[in-house]
Amino acid sequence: MSTKLCLIGHGKMGKMIAALAAEKDCKVISTIDPFAPDCHREINAESIGNADVCLDFSHPSAALENMHKVIALGKAMVVGTTGWNDHLAEIRNLVAKANTGMVYGANYSIGMNIFSRICADAVKYFDRFAAYDVFGYEQHHNQKADSPSGTAIDLANLVLQNSSRKTEALFDTAKRKIESHELHFTSLRAGSIPGTHTIGFDSEADTIELTHRVRSRTSFAYGAIQAAVWISERKGCHSFSDMISEILC
Ligand SMILES: NC(=O)c1ccc[n+]([C@@H]2O[C@H](COP(=O)([O-])OP(=O)(O)OC[C@H]3O[C@@H](n4cnc5c(N)ncnc54)[C@H](OP(=O)(O)O)[C@@H]3O)[C@@H](O)[C@H]2O)c1
Repeated sequence: MSTKLCLIGHGKMGKMIAALAAEKDCKVISTIDPFAPDCHREINAESIGNADVCLDFSHPSAALENMHKVIALGKAMVVGTTGWNDHLAEIRNLVAKANTGMVYGANYSIGMNIFSRICADAVKYFDRFAAYDVFGYEQHHNQKADSPSGTAIDLANLVLQNSSRKTEALFDTAKRKIESHELHFTSLRAGSIPGTHTIGFDSEADTIELTHRVRSRTSFAYGAIQAAVWISERKGCHSFSDMISEILC
């Protein structure tokens, strides 16, 4: 039986998911967006209807309130909107209390997920050699709402977890000499640049850069749809990375 989806946010991602859902045996039965034409304006039992899973690709300023409303209605969720990381513990509790399911992730691309795993290994290798310093940078189009990107925050945390020398991420311009324990991870916004994330290693002798560059939003949409089907049969709060780990095992 096909998985019934409710889309929250009818922007670029919402439209892409709607266009691809049928390929994965999913059906969009409702779309909620207070600003887009021909959509429900509010999240409530009526607008969600009998959807199995709600997918939120709205706006960082709206995501938290949206999650509260959907969880209170006991519906499963896939959250792609970024910028609410500080509230993860609170959301985990709510999902557990409501006995529903959620997948969250700053990046639903399978390629990015595998890239992160490769970066984690690379950080561990270079960490053994004091000659190499690790760094990161990300670039996006000038319409992106948040900076640094949610993916940049995830990648920075991944570096910190796997490095014995870096203990703190510095996302802003330092305006001073950076400390050796600081991981410098910078952001650039311009034009139509597709989401690009780089983790690099530098020594006096050479530079190694690992880069993931998005070519199409379809990678996010397919990943989010796969997450919706996956969570429709599960409970609890899972990262997209947890889901991929289960598939890889
Ligand atoms: N996790 C991932 O893999 C992934 C991938 C791509 C994007 N994202 C994130 O997903 C979000 C959406 O990306 P996008 O590229 O689709 O952006 P977008 O094109 O700007 O679409 C967002 C849509 O949601 C609407 N919206 C704003 N507030 C809302 C609310 N309270 N309830 C429902 N809808 C609301 C926006 O309306 P207005 O335009 O009128 O504000 C817009 O139509 C961003 O946070 C982005 O960073 C995540």
